[in-house]
Amino acid sequence: MSGPRIGAERIHLATVDSTNKHAAELLERTEVQHGTVILADAQTEGRGRRGGVWRSMEGRDLTFSVVVLPIALPVTDQFRMAMAAALAVREAVAQEDVPHVRVKWPNDILIEERKVAGILIQNDLVGDTIHHAILGIGVNVNSTGHDEKGPPSTSIRMETGRDIDRLALLERLLNELDRRWTQVERDPPALQHDYIEQLWGRGRWLPMELDGHAVEARPIGVDRDGRLLVELNDGRVQAFGMDRLRFGPR
Ligand code: BTN
Repeated sequence: MSGPRIGAERIHLATVDSTNKHAAELLERTEVQHGTVILADAQTEGRGRRGGVWRSMEGRDLTFSVVVLPIALPVTDQFRMAMAAALAVREAVAQEDVPHVRVKWPNDILIEERKVAGILIQNDLVGDTIHHAILGIGVNVNSTGHDEKGPPSTSIRMETGRDIDRLALLERLLNELDRRWTQVERDPPALQHDYIEQLWGRGRWLPMELDGHAVEARPIGVDRDGRLLVELNDGRVQAFGMDRLRFGPR
């Protein structure tokens, strides 16, 4: 049923504009097998979500993309891939003896309040089905901080004080992603259960922005479409997508 293992095929580049962009170009030119990994030591135009920039330190962090070819996955089920990627990254970071690693909806990885990894997923559709997806993953491994304005970020090294073997970390992450991929295809309730278990801020009242208005809400879980289930302060529990709800400024 499933094809090659995730990570069976690898392309390791010294420098590239963006591994996601490179993966998209490869997919246009040639056949790319399921699970192919494009890893770069440095990106000159690393992309983040919502048009942002992703910064990393050359040779010290992990910036890579995984090409996946889901078998007949309807676009309405695309959140399964986000859950699989986020859980695999979370697990690999936590295995470095880092406590309190959680998944901030939809797919940031945080250590307490500090972001340690981000994921950018690009889907390519045929009709209502996902033909392929590019899972772009950036993990701050050994970097020593970026002069950023946005929310606070961290690296595994900054948390543990140890230099981390980033390729060994990649290996574990890809093995975990391969294991999670079987759940994408065969056991989405298990993915959803584990994702909710690792959900950052679950049960805490947090500042959020709903339809552009500041609110306090308490994350409770996600539904199968990937909407965040929150309790509002009038006691209602509702599910909202990323088009309506986001975490507010702290
Ligand atoms: C985010 O904004 O949190 C998502 C960041 C995703 C960064 C990764 S690094 C590898 C891949 N290539 C890119 O250009 N972006 C993703």
